[in-house]
Amino acid sequence: MAKKFMVINGPNLNLLGTREPDVYGKETLKDIEEYTRDQLGTILEEEVEVEWFQSNIEGEIVEKIQQLINGEFCSLVINPAAYSHTSVAILDALKMLNIPIVEVHMSNTHLREEYRQQKLTAKSSTIIMEGLGKRAYLFGILSQLLK
Ligand code: DQA
Repeated sequence: MAKKFMVINGPNLNLLGTREPDVYGKETLKDIEEYTRDQLGTILEEEVEVEWFQSNIEGEIVEKIQQLINGEFCSLVINPAAYSHTSVAILDALKMLNIPIVEVHMSNTHLREEYRQQKLTAKSSTIIMEGLGKRAYLFGILSQLLK
């Protein structure tokens, strides 16, 4: 059976492509989904299923994470976006998962504003990746597959 990955994207990532293109690039979230799927198809011999979810609403992200408890997903790749810096609710939800959590950020937040330096959600992440641009999701998934 194909391994299943959940990818969760937080607020404002629905506007990738037009949102600060100098920071996040010109591709939309749909473009990045397609890029990730194509690359996985080329790189991997095994088939994987990837479900993508995006919300601007903290509670919806919490609920999506709760649905992963004891579920069929082998791993979660999450870009909590601005909630990374503030959300105890998302941190608490992530703490209930017993699958690897890969937190990704498209930009290298260490090169950015002071208020982006604190990452609450990363306290429950297994792996953190930053600065990979559109490749963040691909590398996040591959981190769980390559031996
Ligand atoms: C981000 C970085 C966050 O600081 C920011 O609020 C985002 C995107 C990234 O992918 O680089 O929305 O998570």
